[in-house]
Amino acid sequence: MQYQDGRWQIGGLDMAELAEQHGTPLYVYDSSIIERQVTRFQNAFSSFDHRIFYAMKANSNQDLLALMKKLDVGLDAVSIHEVRIGLEAGFSADNIIFTPNGVPFDELEQAIELGARLNIENLSYLEKLGEAYRSDVPCTLRVHPGLVLPNASRDATGWYQRSRFGIDRKQLEEARRIIDLHGIRVEGLHIHSSSIILDEAVFGTVAEVLLDLARDLPDVRILDLGGGVRPPYQPDDDHPDLDALASCLQEPLEHFEQQTGRKLQLWFEPGRYLVAESGVLLTRVNVLKEVGGRSVAGVDTGFHQLIRPKLYDAWHEVRNISNPDGPKQVIDICGCLCEEDDLARQRSLPEVREGHLLAILNAGAYGYSMASTYNSRPLPAEVMV
Ligand SMILES: Cc1ncc(COP(=O)(O)O)c(C=O)c1O
Repeated sequence: MQYQDGRWQIGGLDMAELAEQHGTPLYVYDSSIIERQVTRFQNAFSSFDHRIFYAMKANSNQDLLALMKKLDVGLDAVSIHEVRIGLEAGFSADNIIFTPNGVPFDELEQAIELGARLNIENLSYLEKLGEAYRSDVPCTLRVHPGLVLPNASRDATGWYQRSRFGIDRKQLEEARRIIDLHGIRVEGLHIHSSSIILDEAVFGTVAEVLLDLARDLPDVRILDLGGGVRPPYQPDDDHPDLDALASCLQEPLEHFEQQTGRKLQLWFEPGRYLVAESGVLLTRVNVLKEVGGRSVAGVDTGFHQLIRPKLYDAWHEVRNISNPDGPKQVIDICGCLCEEDDLARQRSLPEVREGHLLAILNAGAYGYSMASTYNSRPLPAEVMV
């Protein structure tokens, strides 16, 4: 969003007018930011044979998916419903990876019928896949990030220990037995890292661990490093640098190719990196009050529409669209649900009055897609500019 001629704009449109036209609360996505992020990702890995599969759980808005398709990005889906939504949006099935966990095997069968790619994360699915399809249906294998532990930096270790996804180190031998028994074609290996990981070198370590496993699996042609690349949520936010991340991968991949004669394709499944910064949530201030020693602006949205502050203590910048040049005051922005619903605490904002329009930034990922109808409130509208 830009401040121009005394007005806040997004994609060249006046934000106050958008709010008038569509009502609040309102999600607005700026397609030019998404294009910029996709281009940044593609450029960073341009020296690799690579593919990007957008993790649509971050935001499955139809216009946004159409834009991803135009930008030649595939999809990473985590439910059969997401697979179907992707197909309806015009993606070809082989451009959709399905990474389920804990769902009935029936969902995998449906995905196979539809032609989507499978990413298998437990022995139960692997066994069923082998029994039913033998070598007919290739898959990638999601391995547990605990494999990275001996080399992981400290910020990564906690998450890698806690993760429950993927096939554990202790089960790899059994996985191998099942693969050999049924002749399953494992064409790729996958690890997804959390967005709390800020150290680019961790991704290099992940690649080395996967390459080690790939040596014994002759069908492997794909290294899928998942998502979890975090964009900055505030100006001086620490976040991985894509060029540095790419250079951590260069050496291990070249070494593997020299040793085995196999050139691997790199896959990524970024979600938030591609869309977080594109979105703002516009909300109206309905109530101003002084309570318990704090100034509170009560707004017409809440954690039913943006749950990240409540769930993860996530920080989202807030701007006062109605009074950009007003004198600063410190205020809490609170949602309209009848429980603790702080969207932003102790923010220094241009003076806020009832009726003002606020913008909550970086709301393009895990905003609308995690919204609910809690308190029996309808979902907000979404607009893409
Ligand atoms: C398997 C998989 N891939 C990709 C993603 C996207 O992660 P992010 O939005 O942090 O890039 C997730 C998120 O949980 C995931 O579980």
